[in-house]
Amino acid sequence: MIPIAIGNERNPDAGRDRRVFFNSLLILLQELFLKKKILITFGTRPEAIKLAPLVLAFKHCTDYEVRVCVTAQHRTMLDQVLEFFNIIPDYDLDLMQEDQTLFDITREVLLHFQKVLLDAVPDYVFIQGDTSTAFAAALSSFYRKIPVCHVEAGLRTNNIYSPFPEEMNRQLAARICLFHFAPTHRAKQNLLKENIPAEAILVSGNTVIDALFEAKKRLRPDGAAIGTLKSKINFADCPDCKRILVTGHRRENFGEGLNNLCLALKTLARQHPDIQIVYPVHLNPQVQKPAYSLLSRLDNIRLLDPLDYESFIWLMDRAYCIITDSGGIQEEAPALGKPVLLTRDTTERPEAIEAGTVKMIGTNTALIVSETNRLLQDKHLYEKMSTAHNPYGDGNACERIIGFMRQQV
Ligand code: UD1
Ligand code: UDP
Repeated sequence: MIPIAIGNERNPDAGRDRRVFFNSLLILLQELFLKKKILITFGTRPEAIKLAPLVLAFKHCTDYEVRVCVTAQHRTMLDQVLEFFNIIPDYDLDLMQEDQTLFDITREVLLHFQKVLLDAVPDYVFIQGDTSTAFAAALSSFYRKIPVCHVEAGLRTNNIYSPFPEEMNRQLAARICLFHFAPTHRAKQNLLKENIPAEAILVSGNTVIDALFEAKKRLRPDGAAIGTLKSKINFADCPDCKRILVTGHRRENFGEGLNNLCLALKTLARQHPDIQIVYPVHLNPQVQKPAYSLLSRLDNIRLLDPLDYESFIWLMDRAYCIITDSGGIQEEAPALGKPVLLTRDTTERPEAIEAGTVKMIGTNTALIVSETNRLLQDKHLYEKMSTAHNPYGDGNACERIIGFMRQQV
């Protein structure tokens, strides 16, 4: 704020009053006309988790007016995150349909997001990652010539069909975006190779670590959510059981890949009656069907609805190891020192593999069984993979992003 000097020698108080008045007026005018308008948009669970700390951080800044638009590409799984982080969206497009196609969700976001842009008139739109929401919201903003900022930019497999359609979504978003927040130096290099100017890129760290730290602060181990989870997995009967946590939802794994995973889990459950496999099943019908039809009758496999973030973090912390094809879990697990067997053939997150926590094993049933058995039996391997080494940031990514934005005129 610019200070104003007013007053005279005979009546210093009058001068002070006027000074206070003009300074207040100036602040008001600055707030009205100089505040930058930010519109943060997301639609799925992982985007919500990774943007929640940014929403909370921007809301603390007096020089920004922040609005939140959820496309609700996901519904239940999104609402779980909004509730945990206490975020009430300004716009809720409520777009999710049962078993939606890529065409459905992309068209709906493109069409409906433009109305939000007309109402909010943002200076900048923020998107995250590689979902249909992220790409279509970026395209919609481009059509309205509003600059877009990309959180978690620069991850690449350079195979446009894996992950599908996420690799292409992320590449197309990069073409549209003005500013790119790369989680790692490797991600920055990927962007430079695509001729994105260096001054448009900030290596911020991944906001997933900010979210993880914030979640740990908010976590209530004796609260209702974790109490419910404990009773669902009979935690009291065996607090120290080896628990294998499983998730899976990638389109490339629909059909054969997910069937193979379920068959592997069935074999492991029979081979090891003393372990417990906990599988919160994604709500996509393509995932629900194989999981419930192949795995519901085994005593030591617990199929659950998707967990709220608080319960999931608590459970990850207590898992022996994790079998997953998730992007976000590949980033959280190294920070928690939890070995991950990655049921994918490509990854845009090689840092987690180099860190030693994640091993990419694909979706062959025999291989999933043998690699899990190695982790269960080979103490040396287990210890090596469970050494916490986090290549994804220090929890200050949001602060860096806001600092970078403040430097833009
Ligand atoms: C989407 C993203 C993927 C991300 C994943 C996170 C795209 C193309 N895919 O995939 O990148 O990794 O989210 O989980 O953007 N459903 C519900 N309730 C929910 C959520 C989903 O019922 O709360 C069901 C619906 O039937 C919906 C279906 O799941 O149609 C698929 O959802 P969708 O967002 O299209 O795909 P995901 O596989 O979740
Ligand atoms: N997660 C959750 N509840 C669950 C499973 C996962 O809160 O039952 C969280 C997990 O901690 C991670 C994110 O959801 O932050 C990952 O989402 P998902 O695997 O659906 O998507 P991806 O990261 O692969 O895009």
